[in-house]
Amino acid sequence: MKEIKANNYSIFFNDEGYIELYNHIQFENYSKIFIHLDNNTNTHCLKVFLKKIKKINYQTIISNPGEENKNIESTIFLWDKLSNNNGDRKSLIINLGGGVVGDMGGFVASTFKRGISYINMPTTLLSMVDASIGGKTGIDLGSLKNQIGTFCDPKMVIIDPLYLETLDKSELISGYAEVFKHSLISEKSFFEKLISQENSIDFKNLDTIKTSVKIKKKIVLLDKEELKERKALNFGHTLGHAIESHFLKNNQKLLHGEAIGIGIVLAAFISNKILDFPIDKLRTIKYHILKIFKRVDFKKSEIEKIIKLLIHDKKNSHGKINFILLKDIGKPMYDIEVENKLILESFNFYLS
Ligand SMILES: NC(=O)c1ccc[n+]([C@@H]2O[C@H](COP(=O)([O-])OP(=O)(O)OC[C@H]3O[C@@H](n4cnc5c(N)ncnc54)[C@H](O)[C@@H]3O)[C@@H](O)[C@H]2O)c1
Repeated sequence: MKEIKANNYSIFFNDEGYIELYNHIQFENYSKIFIHLDNNTNTHCLKVFLKKIKKINYQTIISNPGEENKNIESTIFLWDKLSNNNGDRKSLIINLGGGVVGDMGGFVASTFKRGISYINMPTTLLSMVDASIGGKTGIDLGSLKNQIGTFCDPKMVIIDPLYLETLDKSELISGYAEVFKHSLISEKSFFEKLISQENSIDFKNLDTIKTSVKIKKKIVLLDKEELKERKALNFGHTLGHAIESHFLKNNQKLLHGEAIGIGIVLAAFISNKILDFPIDKLRTIKYHILKIFKRVDFKKSEIEKIIKLLIHDKKNSHGKINFILLKDIGKPMYDIEVENKLILESFNFYLS
């Protein structure tokens, strides 16, 4: 399989992607091409990209890296860059970077002059299997993640695992949390395959990336605006995001995947208590996550602060905190209210 079709755009892999990109650029006759990078992908990924693509005229726009820069200041900087460099409605942005470059570049594209075209070329595992697909763009508001954003599809997505060669090992592993989540919400066979490989996981494996992409794409196609099925993609994210926000607020480093990994264990525990999610699978999940990610310690006061942060979760409505839980592997249930007491218990299970 060379190409995965997602609604009105396609996801291409490896060298095929560069050919499709070149043909697309020729066909669309863009007035200007901006390659959006961050400092790290400018150093490591631009040269790989330029070696692979036939000659194109482009200009780079470079953001500061990391979640701490996924904010309105960086967005204004990018809007200004486009504006000062004659960006017009027929300009294209190519996001060559991780989820931060993609989310922010997509947001800038979707708002500049009421919307211009953009293409995602993810360079982290997380952005390959998750952030680059599905048309969600956005930035953070203070320490609150993804509070401002749009739904806007890219023109295409090009996935080349070659970029992963320069990615920091911890960032590579961080992306795996989303791969694992995809297995939990959709396919028992994928889950079993990942568990069976847990002593020798190849995080750059193209087949694993493709399976993960297919799962995300399938769910997004069912429900683009996250009214029903797409909510399942947030499994582990309700508490995961609150944990991530808490660490961001306190200037402590915790990778997205590490936070989501914890969120997955907590949500699996709550699933067991509320929906009878099988206990053996709960234990397998905890074991698997702790095999891959370091255990993080939480004081009771920290857990209470994290619970308070849940109120900002985007899945809430009418002031209630809604969770995605599992009845079994591949059987997600959404909009389930959970009491704070059970959340506290889930942290105790994770810490035990
Ligand atoms: N839009 C969505 O649907 C969606 C889904 C999941 C996550 N996200 C978002 O994605 C973001 C996280 O993305 P991420 O994990 O890719 O983080 P990231 O974009 O911050 O990248 C991680 C780090 O790796 C560096 N980097 C990226 N590619 C590199 C490469 N090939 N070689 C060397 N260094 C490289 C970056 O500069 C950065 O320092 C979060 O903001 C999250 O909210 C969005």
